[in-house]
Amino acid sequence: MEFRKILVGTDFSEPAARALAVAAGLAARLDARLVVLSVVDTRGLDGAAMVPELAGHVDLGALVASLELAAGRRVEQWLAEAKLPPEVRAIAVARRGVPAETIVQAARELEADLIVLGTMGRSGLSRLLFGSVADKVVRTSPVPVLTVGPKHSGATAPAGSVAASESAAARSSGPAAAPPPGAPPQS
Ligand SMILES: Nc1ncnc2c1ncn2[C@@H]1O[C@H](COP(=O)(O)OP(=O)(O)OP(=O)(O)O)[C@@H](O)[C@H]1O
Ligand SMILES: [Mg+2]
Repeated sequence: MEFRKILVGTDFSEPAARALAVAAGLAARLDARLVVLSVVDTRGLDGAAMVPELAGHVDLGALVASLELAAGRRVEQWLAEAKLPPEVRAIAVARRGVPAETIVQAARELEADLIVLGTMGRSGLSRLLFGSVADKVVRTSPVPVLTVGPKHSGATAPAGSVAASESAAARSSGPAAAPPPGAPPQS
């Protein structure tokens, strides 16, 4: 299997930054390109669309479009701040939708060979091993998913410190997949 294009999902969190660092290290070694994607979560807007007081006052379509535009600029900035090695080619992409579904769909459309995510994101509830976005992407992606856990400290750490996994096998392989002591069983 060749990894020519690597999709990195970001919610601009610390775990996503670690995922980017790992993906950049891989990209440099494999001469792969990075596509860094932020999905604007549009689920809350279904509710807003049903509020009669908003009708005629708020153009939800325009709102989402500007959120998406802003997300794209934010990814650009986030990428610039990450100061990846110059040989790593990375582009910023923003999309709208349900995050996990949109990540998987983007991987298909952009023909990514690998998806890299943090095991957690902005909510980062420490009792949870996997955030819901990471969980759903691992379960539904047609391409392998590499998840970078909270103990990973940097791009140059030994390869064994990240949990690499092929799609649905993610939660049962690698160090990041081991449940913490006292964690409830994962469904
Ligand atoms: N909106 C998004 N767009 C792109 N990538 C995302 C998005 N949200 C999360 N991710 C990716 O998924 C990883 C895991 O985030 P996830 O949202 O699953 O965890 P969480 O925020 O801790 O939990 P939850 O969202 O379920 O409360 C992040 O590190 C990031 O790589
Ligand atoms: Mg989240």
